[in-house]
Amino acid sequence: MKCQDCHPNPDPGEHMTLPVSAKCMGCHSSIAKDKPAIQRLAASDRAKEPIPWIRVYAVAAGVYWSHRSHLGAGLKCQDCHGDVAQMDRIVRISEVTNMSGCMACHKQRQAPTGCEFCHEGK
Ligand code: HEC
Ligand code: HEC
Ligand code: HEC
Ligand code: HEC
Ligand code: HEC
Repeated sequence: MKCQDCHPNPDPGEHMTLPVSAKCMGCHSSIAKDKPAIQRLAASDRAKEPIPWIRVYAVAAGVYWSHRSHLGAGLKCQDCHGDVAQMDRIVRISEVTNMSGCMACHKQRQAPTGCEFCHEGK
């Protein structure tokens, strides 16, 4: 599967979003349905309960952030999230959600560093 099969970046493009259980059940109503984890998944889908996924990366409220403009600048998922395809469990591998993490890359890649780009004025 491609990352964007589960994380599609809908308009206006700020978020990648997390998949709903119906997306998973498209395959798991038949694949591996005897496994305990898939039975838990199926139970929450039947009950129409959202899966309580644990958030890992989050930017503070009030800071302007957009996935789409970063993907449009040619950055890849692994530049900020590491080699997710090789992780059993998502772990935070970068300081990308802190101002120092944003700035380190912006300086390196000659992206804007004016306060107004990320704070006021957006
Ligand atoms: C395109 C089909 C497809 C979709 C969509 C899909 N999966 Fe899977 N998933 C698979 C396949 C294939 C396997 C490997 C099954 C095996 O090893 O027998 C798997 C394995 C798994 C396993 C490991 C089961 C075990 O204990 O061995 C889990 C957990 C799982 N998927 C969860 C999910 C979740 C959660 C979603 C939705 C976010 C999802 N899957 C979406 C095809 C899919
Ligand atoms: C089968 C669906 C599926 C695929 C394919 C998938 N993901 Fe995910 N991803 C999820 C689900 C479900 C979560 C939430 C569970 C968790 O946080 O462990 C998640 C969580 C994440 C997170 C953490 C989000 C947060 O809370 O901050 C990142 C980053 C991520 N995925 C990146 C990727 C990348 C990069 C790829 C491709 C290499 C990828 N994902 C492929 C389903 C998927
Ligand atoms: C330039 C760095 C950067 C790149 C490149 C990047 N991300 Fe993110 N990602 C972030 C940041 C920062 C957050 C926290 C955003 C927030 O709190 O709104 C995040 C959050 C997420 C989340 C949690 C849900 C959301 O949208 O807030 C998922 C899932 C995710 N990223 C997947 C991906 C995938 C898949 C790719 C590649 C297609 C990708 N990211 C590329 C920095 C990046
Ligand atoms: C891995 C490198 C990298 C990281 C990390 C990163 N950026 Fe960027 N950012 C870029 C690049 C490259 C551009 C594109 C500049 C261009 O289009 O000329 C950009 C552009 C922007 C822009 C201007 C485009 C727009 O969307 O209006 C904003 C705002 C921005 N980034 C905010 C952030 C914030 C906030 C963070 C941290 C949470 C962050 N960036 C982290 C590389 C990065
Ligand atoms: C590339 C994006 C980016 C730019 C440019 C940027 N910031 Fe930030 N700033 C952030 C992020 C992300 C946070 C929240 C996370 C943190 O506190 O590290 C933050 C947090 C802050 C905070 C702390 C707010 C609080 O409530 O604690 C201050 C103060 C601040 N920035 C001032 C500035 C000033 C002054 C400038 C211009 C010199 C600037 N920032 C430029 C991304 C940026």
